[in-house]
Amino acid sequence: MSEQTMSERTSADRVIIFDTTLRDGEQSPGISLDVGEKLEIAEQLARLGVDYIEAGFPIASQGDFEAVHAIASSIEGPTICGLSRTAHKDIDRCWEAIEPATNRRIHTFIATSPTHMEHKLKMSPAQVLAEAISAVGRAREYTDDVEFSPEDASRSDFDFMCDVLQAAVDAGAGTLNIPDTVGFATPLEWSERIRAIRERVSGDYVISTHCHNDLGLAVANSLAAVEAGARQVECTINGIGERAGNAAMEEIVMALRTRPDSYPGLEVDIRTEELAKSSRIVSRLTGYPVQYNKAVVGRNAFAHEAGIHQHGVLNERTTYEIMDPAAVGQGESQLVLGKHSGRAAFRDALQKLGHDIHGDALNSAFTRFKELADRKVQLSDADLEALAIEEVGGSVQHAYEFVSLDVSGGTASTPTADLVMRVAGDEVAVTCEGDGMVDASCSAVKLATGAEGRMTDYNVTSVTGGVDALADVALTFESVEGVKVSGRGLSTDVVEASARAFIGALNKIARIRESGEDPNAVDRPGHIG
Ligand code: KIV
Ligand code: ZN
Repeated sequence: MSEQTMSERTSADRVIIFDTTLRDGEQSPGISLDVGEKLEIAEQLARLGVDYIEAGFPIASQGDFEAVHAIASSIEGPTICGLSRTAHKDIDRCWEAIEPATNRRIHTFIATSPTHMEHKLKMSPAQVLAEAISAVGRAREYTDDVEFSPEDASRSDFDFMCDVLQAAVDAGAGTLNIPDTVGFATPLEWSERIRAIRERVSGDYVISTHCHNDLGLAVANSLAAVEAGARQVECTINGIGERAGNAAMEEIVMALRTRPDSYPGLEVDIRTEELAKSSRIVSRLTGYPVQYNKAVVGRNAFAHEAGIHQHGVLNERTTYEIMDPAAVGQGESQLVLGKHSGRAAFRDALQKLGHDIHGDALNSAFTRFKELADRKVQLSDADLEALAIEEVGGSVQHAYEFVSLDVSGGTASTPTADLVMRVAGDEVAVTCEGDGMVDASCSAVKLATGAEGRMTDYNVTSVTGGVDALADVALTFESVEGVKVSGRGLSTDVVEASARAFIGALNKIARIRESGEDPNAVDRPGHIG
């Protein structure tokens, strides 16, 4: 029992940032990250300076277990946390996964609302109380750092929930996390609830909040909880998470930093210059685009359209900017490399951008760079970063690989795609017609891979501005079995980017099938709430 207790680690004026991008965030529909991708995100979270990384739900699947174990084995800095239901086998598995980390936490939870107890758990309140005590006790056999959550706290009977929370503290929980699981709370009500819990539940614990965004109030509720004394906030990059998502970390952190008058003396240890990059990495690897007008990290968050605004900002930035774009890592994109740049310059540029890739990932990123540089005169740092992130897990053997694509057609002739890909190592060439070139090339991918299902979302953006910008395609595909995955592809050509994105999505389905997991199974522990 070498871990510090929470009260040693925190002080009254420090807000602990507990990131759950890799656990609650990964529960968003269509997101399915492999171990390499989760490690890449965890490394960035460590650079960002989060206090806790909730790395996953180890009992949920072998893949979840391996990812949490890999993160616990290699990420330095943040405490690594695993989620667990109250069953002892869940807690034992959770500990096994996080054990290699220097600092580790077990987060155990059980629902306390009447509707969850009756319809989901089919347990009486007395059973729920007993489960909570037993789970915290079991977790404390492994570590001093135990967090307990009464799921669906916003719809729980206050007195009963406080009995459970008191029992959890008495059994050794050092953090009480109060989740608004269904995003039902409003800010005033939430701050009153947090304040009332602090008054009612005695002992040495940190109070935490975990808010969902169903009414668009997750950040407001989290900040209201902080005002009422919460000193840990659970949040995700870009606010991803179940349904409408969780509280967005970048918004919470920047609200605390920008308005010390409203949150006097409160500190967060986040390197805010890493926020925009964290957002881009998470967006690219999850396939979830960031809305242009997203606060803090959206590409328009510091763009000024009206002439009067532009004029004001040119004279004095603070006329229309309450934050410095550089402080959140939203600087201007710079042109960095061209087609004559060599491997060393390429690697050096990536390192300067904070992407230390090597081995197979570096080789494939460099090959892609050369292909793109041949078509585009110069690549900017934003292009390079997008490329590096796309090659995360470059050493992973994928079921399907893009080789080449030729498309022809126009208003008078039928769009046709000639596609060559590698399917399980063998080269396959197919020709398909379609309603348009994107349709023809995606049909060709379907034909070459035998994929069955339908595209449920398709979105094209550009990495930077200008007609020569890299096209960035994000799509969602649902297989016939109902497995939903996202894919993302980059190219100077939008048709090729679409084919690459589709192949990326199909690789995820192949990986899920190979692991034997059924991500849609109703009894899969990953399905919370
Ligand atoms: O939303 C929720 O209740 C959760 C818990 C596991 C904290 O994610
Ligand atoms: Zn949640």
